[in-house]
Amino acid sequence: MNTNGCILVADDEEIMREVLLELLSSESYTVEQAENGTQALEMIRNRDYGAVLLDLMLPDMNGLQVLEELNQLENRPEVIILTAYASIEKAIKATKLGAFDFFEKPFKNDKLLQAIKNALEHRRLLEENRRLRKTLHDRYSFHNIIGKCDRMQQVFDLISQAAPRRSTILIQGESGTGKELVAKAIHASSGRITAPFIAINCGNIPSDLLESELFGHVRGAFTGATNTKKGLFEVADGGTLFLDEVTTISLEIQSKLLRVIQEREFRRLGGLENIKVDVRIIAASNSDLHAAVRQGIFREDLYYRLNVITIQIPPLRERPQDIPLLTEHFIKKYSEENQRDNIGMDPSAMKALMDCQWPGNVRELENVVERAVVLSTGNTITPDLFPNNISTPPPETAFLLSEDPVSLKEKVGNYEKSLILAALDRTGWNQKKAARLLSVNATTLNEKLKRLKIKEP
Ligand SMILES: Nc1ncnc2c1ncn2[C@@H]1O[C@H](COP(=O)(O)OP(=O)(O)OP(=O)(O)O)[C@@H](O)[C@H]1O
Ligand SMILES: [Mg+2]
Repeated sequence: MNTNGCILVADDEEIMREVLLELLSSESYTVEQAENGTQALEMIRNRDYGAVLLDLMLPDMNGLQVLEELNQLENRPEVIILTAYASIEKAIKATKLGAFDFFEKPFKNDKLLQAIKNALEHRRLLEENRRLRKTLHDRYSFHNIIGKCDRMQQVFDLISQAAPRRSTILIQGESGTGKELVAKAIHASSGRITAPFIAINCGNIPSDLLESELFGHVRGAFTGATNTKKGLFEVADGGTLFLDEVTTISLEIQSKLLRVIQEREFRRLGGLENIKVDVRIIAASNSDLHAAVRQGIFREDLYYRLNVITIQIPPLRERPQDIPLLTEHFIKKYSEENQRDNIGMDPSAMKALMDCQWPGNVRELENVVERAVVLSTGNTITPDLFPNNISTPPPETAFLLSEDPVSLKEKVGNYEKSLILAALDRTGWNQKKAARLLSVNATTLNEKLKRLKIKEP
């Protein structure tokens, strides 16, 4: 039984195929043969070969064309080119197209065997890498929500446990932490996926409009109500209604909401008929709902009705370990959108993102990464592509407000110095880049360095 892997020999010369068959079989490889490019491609599409020994001159197409076709496959075998008509140009072209190695016939058996061994090892590593990335991705992502830290993993668990039930869910978290994303994930993993997910931002709609928006109205219910209109509770029937910024809802509408949750029925504005609906309510707020109850602007009974299951999403500054994964996710998203590939992140840029406090949370990080991807001209994102508030550290307020008898002028001078040092540090003491970060021109920066006696350590 052959065990070392399966290799395809694609050569039109029978004698060549036989030589290779003998050589490779003696090294415990399984060997199959193709006489032309079309046959080789067909065989590769149907079987998982570790490597292909590919002749450059095939009767129907040349080896480089075969290689180009193979590059369309997701997990293609490694390709070793064999040719009787070697030239530097061909070898360069083959390498550019991703050939693993290039041999001129006649070749040395031991050299070829070594190249095959290396090629198979290379493919094994690539595969392992791909598998690892996939497991990592699956483990740290849930319906497009990325999160590696324990608290986000708990959010994922809560979503999975709560989604199939009917109970109302309250999502709390600062602006931009992903409340709507979580609400959509709950909808997607509930049995309601084929019914609508309707989101409404209660904070954006005046109170009287909100009422008719949610519950609908009958013709003549108020001036201007020329037609009967369904409310969102009816539109979302069978599905999910996401009420964003619930704390802004007036006390009057809150009591109507309480009734729908308890009775699962309501009346349109001006209507007499009770309408029954099956709607799962997910409420969200970026301020503390319990505090709103204490202030008397939110009904306590409604609070308890909404708060059956609470999902608290932590702010980004409390989970910096999620920043690299989120950044990778957004680089991928925006590179694809902008038809750019292989964009990477300079370590100093990643450090700047990790050091930031992110008052706008994941939304702000997403915008910063999108901007950097769009502005980058090369393949690497560097800190100068970030807005100033990201690439410059926040003011050291403790130092600014110290009670030492230091004049304002001196404090400002010290602060200026610390900003300049931070910019130089972040750009590896590249004055041009540091000047750009600080939005001053390079000569001004140079003068300041002299005046403040700043020297590279
Ligand atoms: N964990 C995450 N993984 C991937 N993308 C995220 C994550 N959290 C938020 N986002 C993205 O950030 C943006 C803001 O998210 P979302 O609108 O859900 O936030 P929000 O909490 O509802 O904000 P607001 O309170 O301002 O309405 C969206 O583009 C969303 O896709
Ligand atoms: Mg939102």
